[in-house]
Amino acid sequence: MTLRAVVKGVGHYLPARVVPNAELESLVDTSDEWIRSRSGIERRHFAAEGEMTSHLAVQAAQAALADAGLSADDIDAIIVATSTPDLTFPSVATMVQSGLGMTRGFAFDVQAVCAGFVFALTTANGMLLSGSAKRILVIGAETFSRLMDWTDRSTCVLFGDGAGALVLAAEEAGGTPADRGILASDLHSDGRFKDILYVDGGTSTGTTGHLRMAGKEVFRHAVEKLAETAHACLEKAGLTSADVTWIVPHQANIRIIEGTAKKMQLPMDRVVVTVQDHGNTSAASIPLALSVGKARGQIKPGDLIVTEAIGGGLAWGSVVLRW
Ligand code: UT7
Repeated sequence: MTLRAVVKGVGHYLPARVVPNAELESLVDTSDEWIRSRSGIERRHFAAEGEMTSHLAVQAAQAALADAGLSADDIDAIIVATSTPDLTFPSVATMVQSGLGMTRGFAFDVQAVCAGFVFALTTANGMLLSGSAKRILVIGAETFSRLMDWTDRSTCVLFGDGAGALVLAAEEAGGTPADRGILASDLHSDGRFKDILYVDGGTSTGTTGHLRMAGKEVFRHAVEKLAETAHACLEKAGLTSADVTWIVPHQANIRIIEGTAKKMQLPMDRVVVTVQDHGNTSAASIPLALSVGKARGQIKPGDLIVTEAIGGGLAWGSVVLRW
């Protein structure tokens, strides 16, 4: 018998406040034209005062549970990928557990910055296949607006807030690439690059800190490493680029997304793109794109999906799954 971690439901939540590029022109020396042409971003959502990462996560989780036709009582575990927890601890995941009124099971956070959702999916997959849980809520939730240095135009125009969630369940399958569910994953990190994307706060400073990024360098690594991990992951699954229905990439920059698709020899009409509306929402960007992709009618049952992401660490990776 082969077990697979199968997607049973998906949902997302975006804070009400939409911030178009033009609004940022009054904060820093930038322009709508620069932001669009260099990143593809047109607008992003910012959480309201007092609206925290856990609140976004609870809303996304409720939407995913509703989509799955399940309640919190049916869930054994919650994994939240985030780098913007409400507090240093407890985890956002336990806050979500409380917010959902769930008093059984277990909950914890995973922190791999923008690659967090790929790491969380892989963690959930391992737990489902080993029998540690039968159904897991996997959430990506972030409020990166709170990490911005509003005097640094090279970063503050790029990020946004949001959350997305999947319900995964262990199901028996045939053990072939035709199965629904997670078919392979491929994870990497390389701490030699820890200084090109980081937040300059934490226990060492006693402050939350601000995001610092050597954008050009991160960009160079992204284009090179994302196609590489996607190819490796497809190979592990016994598949090739030609089998892919949708690339659902981390939404950091349209030029990275296009560069990766090109290296995978897939046209842009096979890529779910949300960066124009969400900006870079770090660990939330992939589940947000999966949810929006489904709502738009792009992603359908049976579709073969490759997700890939890279972020601070550097940490990067990919997951191949059949919807
Ligand atoms: O999710 C985690 C992973 N993160 C990423 O994947 C981000 C990767 N990096 C990027 O997406 C791109 O490198 C950026 C969008 C951050 C920047 O694009 P770029 O084409 O690499 O631009 P650049 O940093 O080389 O900057 C070009 C120019 C500079 O001016 P000079 O030195 O050429 O005179 C910057 O000072 O653009 C200037 N600039 C801006 N101008 C207007 C930088 N930020 C802005 C801005 N508005 N907001």
